Amino acid sequence: MALILIVDDERSICELLEIALRKEGHKVELASSVEAARRKVESQIFDIVISDMRMPGASGVDLLKFVKEMSPDCFFLLITGVPTLETAIEAINSGADRYVIKDHDLVDQVRRTVRDAAANLQLKKEAGFLRRELRRLTGLDNIIGESPKMRTIFDLIQTVSPQSSRILITGESGTGKELVARAIHENSARSSAPFITINCGAFPESLLESELFGYMKGSFTGANENRQGLFQAANQGTLFLDEIGNMSLTMQVKLYRVLQEGKVRPLGSAAEADVDVRVISATNKSFEKEIAEGRFREDLYYRLSVIPIHLPSLRERREDIPMLARHFLGKFQKEMNKPIQGISAEAMRRLEAYEWPGNVRELENTMERAVALETSSEVSLGVLPSRIAGYETPMDAGGNGALHLSVEGLDFEMQIAETERRYLQAALEAAGGVRTRAAELLKISYRSFRHYAKKHNV
Ligand SMILES: Nc1ncnc2c1ncn2[C@@H]1O[C@H](COP(=O)(O)OP(=O)(O)OP(=O)(O)O)[C@@H](O)[C@H]1O
Ligand SMILES: [Mg+2]
Repeated sequence: MALILIVDDERSICELLEIALRKEGHKVELASSVEAARRKVESQIFDIVISDMRMPGASGVDLLKFVKEMSPDCFFLLITGVPTLETAIEAINSGADRYVIKDHDLVDQVRRTVRDAAANLQLKKEAGFLRRELRRLTGLDNIIGESPKMRTIFDLIQTVSPQSSRILITGESGTGKELVARAIHENSARSSAPFITINCGAFPESLLESELFGYMKGSFTGANENRQGLFQAANQGTLFLDEIGNMSLTMQVKLYRVLQEGKVRPLGSAAEADVDVRVISATNKSFEKEIAEGRFREDLYYRLSVIPIHLPSLRERREDIPMLARHFLGKFQKEMNKPIQGISAEAMRRLEAYEWPGNVRELENTMERAVALETSSEVSLGVLPSRIAGYETPMDAGGNGALHLSVEGLDFEMQIAETERRYLQAALEAAGGVRTRAAELLKISYRSFRHYAKKHNV
């Protein structure tokens, strides 16, 4: 049984289809315009939408875009009374799942299409449910992503977690290396023992050594007590060596020895202790280059990377952006207790088009900022940073006047208004809040300044 929305300005058609589909056991809702349909789609998740193509006001194709944006899995059936090649092409190009012509056969055709679609949806739902259930059981449900690239990663995590083999995670900054390392630990037999993280890039060499291996009282100035190293603290568990690419060559030799022998000797100690630790390391550097240029020992690299996992950058899996953006929206909206329901289509387009050099972390920060700034019920273009929203004012371009016009074009009025607002703000800042001075800086009269300030609420 599916939840179906039928949209047509012709009442008789709506009713005809409603009766037929109710008989099949489906739940049916009706809307007589695109506007009314949108409101329904916003408040309920429909499995199937059946919509007329030409209606007064907005068209079925507009509705189709809206629906696919809100719930990409929804099956969309377009019906039309004008059976021309052009309308057929328009329907298919705009992403309709099926296309049916309004003739004496309409009810039968719709019934058959809906039967197939409902059966398919059922299969999809079951597969989705199983996948989610598996994720929940294996602690992978906080790693978001449905792209083929991420699915491969999930499979890999599930396969390699139970064993104790060392893992090297590579990927650009912010791609989720630490998140994955934790998931691997949670999924392993070691999950009840500690997961300890150390950022190898953050310590000078001598300090890193005492952190990792521990020290005895008096072994160096400042060693006022015996202290266990992280290798021992992580015994039976997992040690995550982050930014391993920044480790000095001397430390690399020492680490190699520990991995080789499974024993550590604290600084100043005569005795070695056995340790059973799974080492997962991570880096955002390219090892090939580091090894070729003599900054990383090849033998250590092979020890660490028994299983290499490479995390794709966000721009290599753009299809995950909407899901991630909604995930972070939900998280921050709850944290900040703000009634923000969604992301405007325009804002989402920009999020999907942006390059994301800082990957998921940058997206997370962007959504946090957006939720904090947004005053309406959905995240709008205005609360995205200009580098993402696509504004490129002369100020952005460093004053050389090179403007960027993307293929989708831009909202001219809004660009100009935004530029005005930002110059106003900049002038005020430069003038230390003195309005007459700010007006002088902008070479406008104080009267005009007041006019603009009022217009932009500055
Ligand atoms: N697939 C994902 N789903 C949900 N959140 C993610 C995902 N990937 C990364 N994040 C989030 O993005 C942020 C950055 O992730 P993480 O710290 O694991 O990145 P990293 O690869 O270790 O980055 P760096 O190289 O800069 O240390 C974290 O807040 C993390 O929770
Ligand atoms: Mg990290």
